[in-house]
Amino acid sequence: MCGIIGYCGKDDAGTTILRGLKALEYRGYDSSGIALANPNGSLSITRSVGKISALIEKTKLNLIASSSGIGHTRWATHGAVNEANTHPHTDQLGKVAVVHNGIIENFETLKKNFSPEIFSSETDTEVIAHMIALEMDSGQNLLQAVQNTLHKATGSFSIVVVSELNPHKIVAARKGNASGLVVGFAKDAICVVSDITALTDIIEHITFLDANEYVEFSSKEAIFYSDTGEEIDKKELQLPFEHSVQNLGQFKHYMLKEINEQPEAILDTIRGRYQSDTGSIYLQELQISSEQICDINRVVFVGMGTSSNATLVGRHYMERFAKIPSEVDNASEFRYRQPILDKNTLVISVAQSGETVDTLAAMDEAKRAGCMQITICNNPGTQTTRIADSSIYMRCGQEISVASTKTMTASMVLMHALALYLGKIRGTLSSETEQQQINAALHLPVALGQALELSNQIEEIASRYHTFDDFLFLGRGLGFPIAIEGALKLKEISYINAIGYAAGEMKHGPIALIDSQMPTIAIAPRDTVFEKMVSNIQQIRARQGKVIALVSHGEKSLNNLADEIIELPEVDPLLSPIVTVVPLQLLAYHIAQKRGLDIDQPRNLAKTVTVE
Ligand code: M6R
Repeated sequence: MCGIIGYCGKDDAGTTILRGLKALEYRGYDSSGIALANPNGSLSITRSVGKISALIEKTKLNLIASSSGIGHTRWATHGAVNEANTHPHTDQLGKVAVVHNGIIENFETLKKNFSPEIFSSETDTEVIAHMIALEMDSGQNLLQAVQNTLHKATGSFSIVVVSELNPHKIVAARKGNASGLVVGFAKDAICVVSDITALTDIIEHITFLDANEYVEFSSKEAIFYSDTGEEIDKKELQLPFEHSVQNLGQFKHYMLKEINEQPEAILDTIRGRYQSDTGSIYLQELQISSEQICDINRVVFVGMGTSSNATLVGRHYMERFAKIPSEVDNASEFRYRQPILDKNTLVISVAQSGETVDTLAAMDEAKRAGCMQITICNNPGTQTTRIADSSIYMRCGQEISVASTKTMTASMVLMHALALYLGKIRGTLSSETEQQQINAALHLPVALGQALELSNQIEEIASRYHTFDDFLFLGRGLGFPIAIEGALKLKEISYINAIGYAAGEMKHGPIALIDSQMPTIAIAPRDTVFEKMVSNIQQIRARQGKVIALVSHGEKSLNNLADEIIELPEVDPLLSPIVTVVPLQLLAYHIAQKRGLDIDQPRNLAKTVTVE
């Protein structure tokens, strides 16, 4: 989490940094700050609690003319959300300013080298500013001071530093594997940003800072150094995507906009990949040979949050079409249980951001074990795509709302395509099934459009249910991952206690919660487990529980049983999760809206989770 930025250039540094921070706001929005170097050398620092808009408001009157500076948007890890803990942090005399993303694990030990009264914050960051200043007092230049300091610090983090001794130069460093940094080269400017999505309007080329590398840059030149201080050559790369303007258009929130973008987003995801005329799937980006594909003896899916929920659907597809034993692992648990992996294990990671720290750690573990790796990602050039052997892009356009919506549907589609592709090569998929599934997938944009037409009905349901404080989501088979996802969406943006369960588990505990105050969302399309879902619904009704049932198009048998019926659009049963998730996204949205909450930036969350 935390967005960090450093800029040296001809443009006004203040406005450029604020614009960059706005683009990085999805990484955290507890507080933000900026340090600008005055032409005379001194540093001018402004900090503000709340969103970037508060910082912009605060700097309006006193933004100094400057050509270099650093900025930060915070997701609090150490210390409360208040101005004292807001970055940039400085030494006592304000000679050095530091912004930081990640965790300095031994900061308590490092702090013992200074008298306690010099600290003005509770953060793990501030000690770094004092250490760099101390190094500089003993004659080191900024780069040496940063290097010496980071040699003493432990953890995985990135920092950007500016000092009044050399205000036209900035030093940035990345310690360990987490917390990536991108160096961007623009006309007359060089900058460093947490990820490629910031300052794409000016950046022409980029290069990535690898673990334990440093960069010292001015507006004209960037010099890269290894951990041992040797200069290193870095290749400049093209920006891997076109700059796109973020705006809400006719929508009130990005979440609603992104939910509504799904038909078009999925059209882009499937374009050229599902071809009905040839009856084939095309995944040109796969760098795995047919022999390797035939040698795969196990698939392990990893991801976090919504991406992890999507992999539960991916597992169904992989076992069904490619007949490969498959398992789903929460990425944050994966590396801690010494998983048994070998070169014939295919690890499929899903991460819309490409920067999620736990997913990166799981991928590193898989790399050490020599596994084949495919990643499904929405953001070209991000860290997951640099670790995996092959990257399959969602092509959804940037997702801004913290709640993932369109990227979940896209990732499920891509796991469907991948399973069909592997199944064909392995000879486990008949051409009839392949053709039938391709045609069914090509119908998805239409079905997603029809699902969006349910919005008014769902808004009415939301107006009857938004005051409830607890919800249960139940599903079986392919409905189970969608039940967990529906619950995640609701709790994430409505702060309602919502739990998702496999319906078969209901009698093993959750049924004790059922009463008239705990509505159940039952995912009950007419599939092989429909009758069992009907029994669950009956058992809930027998205990005065209210039921909102999601049923197949034209299904009338639950009309007298459920309190609310949402009829899903017609879709192939195997693809139903991709469509069923949409009404649940809408339900969460409308409930949060009726509760008057900050939908795109819910409390305590950040879109990209870059610390453990
Ligand atoms: O970028 P990723 O897909 O790796 O993100 C994983 C989770 O942090 C993310 O899905 C999170 O759960 C969302 N906020 C859910 O809406």
